[in-house]
Amino acid sequence: MIVFFNGKIDNQDNIKLSPFDRGFLYADGVYEVIRTYNGKFFRLEDHLERLIHSLNSIKINFKEINKIENILYQLIVENKYTSEVMAYIQITRGTYFPRKHSFPEQNINPTVFISANPLSEDRTENETGVKVILQKDIRWKRCNIKSVSLLPNVLANQQAKEESAGEAVWVNNGSLLEGSHTNFFGVKNGEVWTAPLSNLILSGVTRKVILELCNSLNIQCKEQAISENKIKSFDEFFISGTTTEIKPIIQINNMKIQNGKPGNLTKRLQTSFYDMVKN
Ligand code: PDD
Repeated sequence: MIVFFNGKIDNQDNIKLSPFDRGFLYADGVYEVIRTYNGKFFRLEDHLERLIHSLNSIKINFKEINKIENILYQLIVENKYTSEVMAYIQITRGTYFPRKHSFPEQNINPTVFISANPLSEDRTENETGVKVILQKDIRWKRCNIKSVSLLPNVLANQQAKEESAGEAVWVNNGSLLEGSHTNFFGVKNGEVWTAPLSNLILSGVTRKVILELCNSLNIQCKEQAISENKIKSFDEFFISGTTTEIKPIIQINNMKIQNGKPGNLTKRLQTSFYDMVKN
């Protein structure tokens, strides 16, 4: 695969990453995941804005955000992709020796890695829906930064897999906040609920798009977290994300939702989401 690494487009086999890279040593870096529809990167502005927010939040001085768009499209061309793609961007503070927790005193260049790979068009799971499991939120308290420090998310997602679930949803002080790599929504009496933006969740681009869709479809929204002990009072649940799109939840732990079938409002939002990205 042809990738971008520190200013150059090259074969991934030629990339040399120092073990003293602070991303490797400390997870001292941030990332983004963006996908294409009809060959165009979807909501690129929103993703780049969030990347800038993540970089600023951890004081990584990266001045070349405006070069990213060209690189993304160049990777599609260089790899001769004809399908839709998912791109991954990671920027770490850079490489410095000797290892020391505080930032290096000298100016070092951030390490920049960008890759793109073909994306499956299979939406079967989005039609059938998935089970999710609930997990105690053991993450740090700055989840609005898209940090590469994802160990809690990795462990929770693995746990979900081991329990034949599609996602793990974080429960923080009794509130269902978001998934290990998705945002979380509930539907109650025709109203869509999702946790409000704060330091406790990632400001999902798909979440934002869904709230816009609700607005244009005259569906009421409530940016309020759902309590674990109120799950039974909700009619539908779904998760959202760049590659996930809108995925119905048909079971939470051992509790079947809607007799194990995707909800109607979820399906309506899905249909309008697919219509929107098609154009
Ligand atoms: N995950 N919440 C978390 C914790 C996430 O990691 C993500 C994205 C989302 C959804 O955000 P968006 O709609 O902008 O993709 C919510 C990416 C896709 C990932 O880690 O692979």
